[in-house]
Amino acid sequence: MVSKVADEPQMLSKKAGCNSHGQDSSYFLGWEEYEKNPFDPVTNPTGIIQMGLAENQLSFDLVEDWLEKNPDALGLRREGASVLRELALFQDYHGLPAFKNALARFMSEQRGYKVAFAPSNIVLTAGATSANEALMFCLADQGDAFLIPTPYYPGFDRDLKWRTGAEIVPVHCTSGNGFRVTRAALDDAYRRAQKRRLRVKGVLITNPSNPLGTAVPRADLEMILDFVAAKGIHLVSDEIYSGTAFVPDSFVSVLEVLPSTRAMADRVHVVYSLSKDLGLPGFRVGAIYSSNPGVVSAATKMSSFGLMSSQTQHLLAALLGDKDFTRKYLAENKRRIRERRDQLVDGLKEIGIACLDSNAGLFCWVDMGHLMTQHGRSFEGEMALWKKVVFEVGLNISPGSSCHCREPGWFRVCFANMSAKTLDVAMQRLRAFVETTTNSKGGSALRRAPAAPARSMSCPLAMNMKWALRLTPVSADRKAER
Ligand SMILES: Cc1ncc(COP(=O)(O)O)c(C=O)c1O
Repeated sequence: MVSKVADEPQMLSKKAGCNSHGQDSSYFLGWEEYEKNPFDPVTNPTGIIQMGLAENQLSFDLVEDWLEKNPDALGLRREGASVLRELALFQDYHGLPAFKNALARFMSEQRGYKVAFAPSNIVLTAGATSANEALMFCLADQGDAFLIPTPYYPGFDRDLKWRTGAEIVPVHCTSGNGFRVTRAALDDAYRRAQKRRLRVKGVLITNPSNPLGTAVPRADLEMILDFVAAKGIHLVSDEIYSGTAFVPDSFVSVLEVLPSTRAMADRVHVVYSLSKDLGLPGFRVGAIYSSNPGVVSAATKMSSFGLMSSQTQHLLAALLGDKDFTRKYLAENKRRIRERRDQLVDGLKEIGIACLDSNAGLFCWVDMGHLMTQHGRSFEGEMALWKKVVFEVGLNISPGSSCHCREPGWFRVCFANMSAKTLDVAMQRLRAFVETTTNSKGGSALRRAPAAPARSMSCPLAMNMKWALRLTPVSADRKAER
């Protein structure tokens, strides 16, 4: 007889059955909808365009070029001789020294060599997901809390809370000051945690921010460090987007601002990964950087549960060790991110949609509150608009509520996981939707973009889609598809 395991939740642990991983948030539901009907310019031109995924697909050609020129890295060789045995047997959770040295130098280069990273203070993990969770295991007991400024990356609910039992207390930031963290908001969150009888163990910031696309200003970092020092708690700075900061000098690492006292150095921990800057989320390369020997030692032991393969370390030791490559890559990748960001921002502006002014990230934080025709400026209104945008317009964007934003009407829109042409299709769909929405509200029709020569790609099936228009590019001078 076939057993019906799935129907019998009592057979599983409480952890397996509990939903604090946040997988049922609209952030992940949007991905599921996309999976059912993914856009493809040739085979499925009416499908959903994925704008809810912070992936960097803009610079693969640079990595591919390097691989062509450096066959030893993938061929498991060093100076032509096989290193298969060495790598196949390697299982030391401290990581390959060559890789840690190269990563330390790369992280320093990214910060303009203003900070030096000691390889012995790096703990390797399977991506930033694993790094963040390991830090929670090191710093918080079940029921202890971390304060996190909102809006924040929806994955934190899963990564920080689910298996560790730690709690997140939101630090509410608002549009009034561009969602910057204030001392008053930190104090307020701290008080709310105390009211809930939670022991606050730290603050976690993402710098540059996902979903805001902004780097945390130096003055704000200083203020947060003062708060952390006053409360005697930890600060985790997730700097996974540091290499995307496309405005010179906009990104300042917390390590640049850190006072040189032992007490503070022991309390500040940086998370990093190559998932965004190098566009390699599938390689699962992450790191914790901490000067606290207890954290380094405990996290290293924990990293047994999520190690990076030695094969990947071998490849990346060579790639990141090539200074000429990393220098060119970092500059060109930022240039491309900025260009694509401008394409999105300009396109939105033409149809009357504003964004928070960004200087980093693979997304923009977009104010679509005026398009919430049902339920007004409320979270019901935001959900209704989100469903329309996903199911009728065919764009999977992430509602602000999934990032715990307190003000309805904001959406995170990703731009670096698609070609320039696909982004144009998305903008055309959005334009049609906005025009219909504003007309039906009795408003004046939006100014049309000046006619431009049609791009070679056409999308006749898109006419089946309620809001889709035939393609006319928003600007004619854009670069060929990468
Ligand atoms: C702020 C932040 N931290 C961590 C992660 C997880 O990154 P990884 O793929 O390295 O696990 C993400 C992914 O989107 C992120 O945005």
